[in-house]
Amino acid sequence: MANTILVGAQWGDEGKGKIIDVLTESSDIVVRSQGGANAGHTVIVGDKKFVLHLIPSGILRPDKICVIGNGVVIDPLSLLEEIDQLKQMKVKVGSNLMISETAHVVFPYHQELDGIREKNKGKNKIGTTKRGIGPAYGDKAARVGLRMIDLIIPDRLEARLKIRIRENNAVIKAWGGKPLSFNKVLADYTEAGKRLKPFVKNTVVYLHHALQDKKNILFEGAQGTFLDIDHGTYPYVTSSNTTAGGACTGSGVPPHRMDRVLGVMKAYTTRVGEGPMPTQNQEVGDLLHGMGREYGATTGRARRCGWFDSVITRHAAMVNGFDELAITNLDGLDTCEKIQVCTGYRVGRVKFDYLPNDIEALALCEPIYQEFPGWQTSTEKCASWKQLPTKARQYLKAITELTTGKLRIVSIGPDRAQTIFV
Ligand code: GDP
Ligand code: IMO
Ligand code: MG
Repeated sequence: MANTILVGAQWGDEGKGKIIDVLTESSDIVVRSQGGANAGHTVIVGDKKFVLHLIPSGILRPDKICVIGNGVVIDPLSLLEEIDQLKQMKVKVGSNLMISETAHVVFPYHQELDGIREKNKGKNKIGTTKRGIGPAYGDKAARVGLRMIDLIIPDRLEARLKIRIRENNAVIKAWGGKPLSFNKVLADYTEAGKRLKPFVKNTVVYLHHALQDKKNILFEGAQGTFLDIDHGTYPYVTSSNTTAGGACTGSGVPPHRMDRVLGVMKAYTTRVGEGPMPTQNQEVGDLLHGMGREYGATTGRARRCGWFDSVITRHAAMVNGFDELAITNLDGLDTCEKIQVCTGYRVGRVKFDYLPNDIEALALCEPIYQEFPGWQTSTEKCASWKQLPTKARQYLKAITELTTGKLRIVSIGPDRAQTIFV
């Protein structure tokens, strides 16, 4: 398999983890290049359920190498918890995991500030995962962040952390938050640094050697296109570039070495957190929540649900340059009598088929729907394209065409086996 960038085409939780797990079989290396422990990627293998936050979903296949790239922000305590949990579930985590020396570290003051900023925003809150993501990327851009290379050198960690805690405690106190104990943070992070040191490497050089050796690399996107700091529904976004370009900057692999971009999208739309979502629909939410589906993998929050919105997926195809598409959760629509697909937006009498940049304008948009007949039969056991009901195939073809792309994968259940290659 060629070097592939996998990107979410909606607002995250598209089923990326499942597709990554399937594609890892034909890859050598899986790389995370942005985001942090805000991600929650679910992989079901047999009767076991894994939720990966910082570690690439490729870790479940022991002969593959997993890399946490320079563009990721790492909470070392959360990462160690994840490693311990995986080991308890008999998953190998050792020389198969590498962490970039230059990835930035998330500290407890980032999480405290994330909470304070959300509280101060009141009804305008973003609905973040409170994992400290925004403040950590803020420090990176402000050039005051600490990186993994700093974490594993105890003297350096102590000297830099002292300044950071002093500065952040002043802000935390001013906003009525709970100041942090320097000694406690230092002790926890020194210990974490000791445990993580064997994993910390120059991953850029490693990946370049791998390219020379013609290894196949899979880039595991986190979040989704409309949570991108530049291309998403700002300010209701995360703080990294979740779109295809982020895979290059966040790993050090140049654009011309990338062979294809695979967009992953659900057969409907979901969003967790605040911000506009034109096709949000109570009926779809009731249907999916009623099946016990669409609860956040990281925070457990109920996801907002709605019909498929081809205005946003078309925009995602444009920004990311999708060569191919994977459509997941088709089975979620199995019982619908009628299915709506948003083909454009309307504000009053004015119609348009693109995404407005101003989210206040987007909030005024009403979806224009095209109706499709439901197939009203279970797709969960379909083993090939031909076995899918005709109406399901028509629906898949229609949303693929509206998005603009080539359909490659259809997912009809959370298990590895419930995957159809088209
Ligand atoms: P990610 O963040 O993009 O990896 O997605 P999440 O893991 O947060 O959410 C996707 C959810 O859908 C998880 O519970 C998956 O197990 C589940 N899932 C993925 N693909 C399918 C599918 O085709 N059908 C069903 N029923 N569930 C799926
Ligand atoms: P995966 O990789 C869905 C959302 C949060 C919030 C906004 C900002 O599992 O698809 P942050 O904590 O990043 O500052 O929150 O982004 N968000 C996600 N929504 N899936 C994710 O990741 C998300 N990561 C962040 O809910 O609206
Ligand atoms: Mg998720």
